[in-house]
Amino acid sequence: MSENNLDSITKILGVIINPNNGKTLKEEGRIVEIKADQNELLFKYKRDGITPEQKRSIETNVSNALSEFYSPEKITVLTISENSSDVFTEKTFTPAGEKPKATAAAPASAQIKSGHGPVGANKKRVAGAKKVIAVSSNKGGVGKSTVAVNLAFALKNLGKKVGLLDADVYGPSMPMLLNQREAKPGATTEKKILPIDAYGIPFISFGLFINEKDPVIWRGPMLGGVLNQFLFDVAWSDLDYLIIDLPPGTGDMQLSMVQATEIDGVVVVSTPQDVAILDTKKGLNMFNQVKIPVLGMVENMSYFVPDDAPNKKYYIFGDGGVKKAAAELDVNLLAEIPLEIALREGSDKGLPYMNEKKHEGRPVWNAYMMLAKNVEQSFEESPSAGPQKGFFKRLFS
Ligand SMILES: Nc1ncnc2c1ncn2[C@@H]1O[C@H](COP(=O)(O)OP(=O)(O)O)[C@@H](O)[C@H]1O
Ligand SMILES: [Mg+2]
Repeated sequence: MSENNLDSITKILGVIINPNNGKTLKEEGRIVEIKADQNELLFKYKRDGITPEQKRSIETNVSNALSEFYSPEKITVLTISENSSDVFTEKTFTPAGEKPKATAAAPASAQIKSGHGPVGANKKRVAGAKKVIAVSSNKGGVGKSTVAVNLAFALKNLGKKVGLLDADVYGPSMPMLLNQREAKPGATTEKKILPIDAYGIPFISFGLFINEKDPVIWRGPMLGGVLNQFLFDVAWSDLDYLIIDLPPGTGDMQLSMVQATEIDGVVVVSTPQDVAILDTKKGLNMFNQVKIPVLGMVENMSYFVPDDAPNKKYYIFGDGGVKKAAAELDVNLLAEIPLEIALREGSDKGLPYMNEKKHEGRPVWNAYMMLAKNVEQSFEESPSAGPQKGFFKRLFS
C-alpha cells in the first residue's frame, strides 16, 4: 500500500462523524487504530455513548467513504468501550504478515465525550449562518414546509440573506416547492455540498439525494450519518438566517437532530383543527430540554379568504384554536396565516407565494410579513436568548 493511499485513507477516516453529536470521531479522540494493506482495512474506535443504530451508520459511512479503496467485505470496523464488558468485535483482521492480536479495552482514564453528558453540551453550529431557525410541527400536512419556504422569502423581502435546509427525511418537499426536482447539487473543492439556488435563496434537500422509491422506513437508519453531513457540510455563505424544515413529530430522529445542532429558535406550526394541547406540549418540552428557544407558534389555515372577496374571513376550522393553545402553554403566537387557494397553487407549481409580488397586500402576504418581522424582532430584542415572554403578545394584540 502506497504512502499516498494510506494518507488519503487516514484523512477520509478523520472526517467520519459521530451521529450522536455531529463531531468527528477524530475530534473526539475516539480513533484507536487504523491498519491498512492492499487487501484489507481495519478501523478501530471507542464507541462509548454510541447507540447500536449509530454504530451501524458509522460502519456504513466508513465503507461508503472508502469504496474507492476497498469493497465492504474487506473493511473491518472494530469498536472498544471503556466498559470492558461492552467490547464489540465484528470481524477479525490481520494485516498481511502480522499475527492476530487480542482487542484491548481503552485505558479507564481516557476521557470520552459522549451523548450521555448534559443535554446540549455537544451541540455544533452550522457554519455560514448567523441565525438558525427550525420549523417544526406535531404532524404532517399542517403546512410546515409551506411556512418554512414562505418565511424564507418573507425574510428575503425584508432584505435578509436566507437559506433553506429541508431536513424532512420522511417527506422532503422543497424540490417541488422550489421547482428544482431535477437539480443535482455539486461539491466544493473542500468536499462541501453546494446548495442549489432557487429564486435567490440557496437551498438543500434530502429529496435531492434520496430515491423517492426507497421505503420511508429505511430512511432514518440509512441517513444516520448523512444527516450530519446535511446539517454541517453544506457550503452556506454569509446567511442572516438558515431555515430548517424539520421532520414532523418528536421522535428519535427529530431529537437527535435538534440535540446535535445549535438552533437559535424554533417556530411551531399548527392548524386550528390539529392543535392538540398534549402533543404540542410534548413538542415544546423537547425543545426546552435541548435548550432551544421557542420563538412561538404559527396558526396555519386560520381562516379562508375567497379570491374574489379578500376582506371576508371564514373560520372553517373554528376561531383562534392555536391562539388559545399558545396562551395556555405560555408561548407567543407569531402569526395567523389564512387559507388561500393561490398559496397552494403556487406551491404545486414551484412558485413560492412570497416570491410573487402580485400577491403583495393580500391577507396571506401580510400574515407572512408579520411572521418575518416578529421573528426578526425577537432576535433584535434578545439576540442570544430568543424573544422575551409576552413580547409578541404585545405585538399581536
Ligand atoms: N395557508 C394555506 N392555504 C392553502 N393551502 C395551504 C396553506 N398551507 C399549506 N397549504 C397546502 O397544504 C398542503 C400541505 O402543506 P405542507 O406545507 O406540504 O405541509 P407539511 O410540510 O406540514 O406536511 C400543501 O398542499 C400546501 O400547499
Ligand atoms: Mg413538509
